[in-house]
Amino acid sequence: MHNDLYAVVGNPISHSKSPRIHSLFAAQTGQAMEYTAIQAPLEDFAATVRDFFAKGGQGLNVTVPFKEQAWDMADRRSERAEKAGASNTLYQEADGGLVADNTDGIGLVTDLTVNAGVSLTGKRILVLGAGGAVRGVLGPILAVQPGELVIANRTVAKAGALVELFADEAGDTRLSATGFSDVAGAFDVVINGTSASLQGDLPPVSTDIVTPDTVVYDMMYSPGMTTFNQWASENGAGRILDGLGMLVEQAAESFRLWRGVRPRTAPVMEELRKH
Ligand code: ATR
Repeated sequence: MHNDLYAVVGNPISHSKSPRIHSLFAAQTGQAMEYTAIQAPLEDFAATVRDFFAKGGQGLNVTVPFKEQAWDMADRRSERAEKAGASNTLYQEADGGLVADNTDGIGLVTDLTVNAGVSLTGKRILVLGAGGAVRGVLGPILAVQPGELVIANRTVAKAGALVELFADEAGDTRLSATGFSDVAGAFDVVINGTSASLQGDLPPVSTDIVTPDTVVYDMMYSPGMTTFNQWASENGAGRILDGLGMLVEQAAESFRLWRGVRPRTAPVMEELRKH
C-alpha cells in the first residue's frame, strides 16, 4: 500500500521545517503518510497545485509567497480563511472542490494561550504590522476578546483598513490603528508581525511599550534570538517568545484537518529546538 501524499509549496522552500514537523506528527500518531516540499515556479503556482492533486495528493500547506494565490484559486473557503485573505492549508473534498483554510491565527493563539499560558482575554495587546501575516491572525486574536487591540504599522492606512475589515469581529474589544511613533503606554502583550527584521530593521516604537509584565511574541522564528526579541529583552520585557510554537501549532491544526487526529505538539517543539 502506498502512503497518502502531502506537501508544502513555496518559493524558496528548501529551509522549510514543515516536512520534518509533519513526519514527526505522522510517526507519533501512526498515520501512513508522506510529506514533501515543492518549490513552485513563481509564475506557476496554480498549475503546481492542480498537478499535485491530479496525481492523487491529499493536502497542501502553502507558504510565502503563494498564500494569497492559494486563497484565490480555491472553490470554497473556511470562514477564518475568508477573512484572512490568504490560505496556508489546501485540500480537496469528495466532489473534487478545492478548499482553502487558514490555520496560522489559531496556531499563534494556541501557542500563546495553551503552550505559554498567556491569557489574552481582557488584555491590552499591541500588534506591529498590517501585512498578510497580521491579517491572518487578527480573527483568532479577536475571538478570545482582548480588552484593547492596537494595530500599529509603518503605513498607517493599511492598519486602518484592517480595523475596518475586522470591526464586525471586535465585539467589546477596543480596536484601533496607529503609526509606530504614536503608540503610547505599556502593553500586556506585544506581537511583532512585521517583516522588518528581514532587513535587519526594527519598528521604531517607544521602549515604554514593554515592562517586566509584558509578554513579547515575535511571529518570526530564527535559530538565535530575533532582532525584535533582542530589542525587547534589552528593554526589560518580562517574557519573550518566538514563532516556532506558532509554526508547529499551525501545522498540527492542518494535520488535524487532513487526518482527523491532532498530534501532541510539545515533543515536536522540543525536538526542533535541539537542532
Ligand atoms: P507578510 O506576509 O510578512 O505580512 P507583507 O504583507 O509584505 O508581508 O507585510 C509586511 C509587513 O511588515 C508590513 O506591515 C510592512 O509595513 P508596510 O505596510 O508599511 O509596508 C512591515 N515592514 C516591512 N519592512 C519594514 C520595516 N523595515 N520597518 C517597519 N515595518 C516593516
